Amino acid sequence: MRFQKLFRLYRVLRPIYTFNLFTLHYYLIRFFYKKPSQISIFQISYELNNRLIEYFETSEKLKYEKLKDIDHKYLTYYNETAGYKKMDEIIDIFSSPSKQLIADIHREISDNILGPPNFYSKPCFVNTRGWLTKPKSTIYGPNKMHTDGFTKGHLKVMIYPNGLNEDYGYFILNGLPIKDMPKGTAIMFHNSDVLHSGYPGKKYDRYSLEVTILESFIHIEQFHNGFPTGNHYKNLITPYMYVAKKKIFRS
Ligand SMILES: [Fe+2]
Repeated sequence: MRFQKLFRLYRVLRPIYTFNLFTLHYYLIRFFYKKPSQISIFQISYELNNRLIEYFETSEKLKYEKLKDIDHKYLTYYNETAGYKKMDEIIDIFSSPSKQLIADIHREISDNILGPPNFYSKPCFVNTRGWLTKPKSTIYGPNKMHTDGFTKGHLKVMIYPNGLNEDYGYFILNGLPIKDMPKGTAIMFHNSDVLHSGYPGKKYDRYSLEVTILESFIHIEQFHNGFPTGNHYKNLITPYMYVAKKKIFRS
């Protein structure tokens, strides 16, 4: 109860100390477009889901400890030094999916979220990464109830190629367990507004494909390869500059 009160206070005060370009952009978006629903659940196609399973089964596993000294050019990333070891104990991260796979995942997401373009903002695809939660792993990091603390205007889509259940693990949103869901379940939610956590499976690894989206005035593709521990753009101008450069060099 006390935690919930503190969390409410944190949400009320947060816009004051995090005011920046992202915040301004967010309020402009909100002025012109409807807010997407807090949570929506959809299914990706059977064919794409099979390709995701193949990606998880064949990709290289990486460690937070080994990635800690790499600075991504465009994205902020997980940098809690004290947490690397614990994160490596509970999850494995994977090298980024291929460009083609990323584009196909984003196409299906675009078809399923944000609704009619005249009423809703467009997606700017920020990062795409795969990771797995080890069975019976500790309640720490993504397994613990949290919000992501991203700058305003971000959404996440989580895709679960093996579905969500007790054996593979599930997801908790606003205190509500989302389980007994079929293979290829995708959940879109406001990752910095809604309390959430993963829950490890009793028997198997839980594969998670995570796509970070920034609500935007124009549709912007993910123009870089992504980063396995990436969060969001360091600078709001980066994706818009990419579109501007593309238009200038094409004309
Ligand atoms: Fe999270």
